[in-house]
Amino acid sequence: MSSTDSPLVAPSHVTAIAPYQAGKPIEELAREYGLDPTAIVKLASNENPLGMPQSAQAAIAQAVAGLGRYPDAAGFDLKAALSERYGVPQNWLTLGNGSNDILEIVAHALLEPGTSVVYSQHAFVVYRLATQARGARHIMVPARDLGHDLSAMLEAIAPDTRLVYIANPNNPTGTFLPGDAIEQFLAQIAKRHGGRVTVVLDEAYNEYLEPALRFDSVALVRKYPNLLVSRTFSKAYGLAGLRVGFAVAQPALTDLLNRVRQPFNVNTLAQVAAIAVLGDAEFLARSFEVNQGGKRQLQAAFDQLGLTYVPSYANFVLVKVGDAARINLELLKRGVIVRPVAGDGLPEWLRVSIGLPEENARFISALTEILGSRHA
Ligand SMILES: Cc1ncc(COP(=O)(O)O)c(C=O)c1O
Repeated sequence: MSSTDSPLVAPSHVTAIAPYQAGKPIEELAREYGLDPTAIVKLASNENPLGMPQSAQAAIAQAVAGLGRYPDAAGFDLKAALSERYGVPQNWLTLGNGSNDILEIVAHALLEPGTSVVYSQHAFVVYRLATQARGARHIMVPARDLGHDLSAMLEAIAPDTRLVYIANPNNPTGTFLPGDAIEQFLAQIAKRHGGRVTVVLDEAYNEYLEPALRFDSVALVRKYPNLLVSRTFSKAYGLAGLRVGFAVAQPALTDLLNRVRQPFNVNTLAQVAAIAVLGDAEFLARSFEVNQGGKRQLQAAFDQLGLTYVPSYANFVLVKVGDAARINLELLKRGVIVRPVAGDGLPEWLRVSIGLPEENARFISALTEILGSRHA
């Protein structure tokens, strides 16, 4: 039944939502094309190709017997570990069922019909979804060189704007804004709008930044009560399937978030695994190195093939292939799953998550073959 035939009554801002399109699961592709699932390479969801670290697996094994009980709703132990790591009190921390949950909790806490949200064209799609789900208006600011145009975003803030989302690095483009640009943006907002506009700085890919580029966003949270920084354990920490992320914000904003989040939004296994990986510096370092190597491998291949790409600051590369829909289909036939991004306004591009060297090589050889046959 199409939504127009449905007898259900729902707000128009809900029926207007185009549901999130997740990366194609390996099993689905195997069924569709009769392929061996073990031979399929999935470079579509910006997951950690090293998988879940042993440290997390051990912590989970220990916690399984306790699953008859609800999780700790306050997430005390995980917050204690985060509090020590980031040097903020526990009442500055909010845990989320993935950082996606954080992005939605903020929208839930601050938005209502008659308010608006500013974000960039080609920014992470959840900003639009969270805005629409609250019946708020979205103000999408044209991107500059596929990245956020912070001065245009500043000018776009309207009297009814409550929230600005910034992805840094951004998905799906992989672009990055340096710390001084973010700080200037925050200072301008404080000057022009005081605390009326909350800024969400989404740093899901932060751990993939080269050390020289990293800046202390938590120090900015200390300075700006209208700033929320969100982070995740899904990417460099390798826990995507468990769903755990967190926010750092001053207590007044944190208190608002706490009023609308689900009481048990982060499950027990996610909490114990997150504590384990926070202490697993070796795994994090390996994630970073594998990603750096894979990025060089992919970008060098794109150079060789004469393809335009956006130099990436994250764990994926956005590459311009022209007829992306057809090339994506050809890749699927060869057992390689990447992410088409036409829905993000980028119909000629594909987003390729960085995998293990052999996975990247499979993708490169399939792409080379497809592009070769195009020129034949
Ligand atoms: C920019 C950005 N923010 C947040 C998320 C949400 O990730 P998670 O909910 O797994 O923490 C993603 C996931 O791809 C992302 O790309």
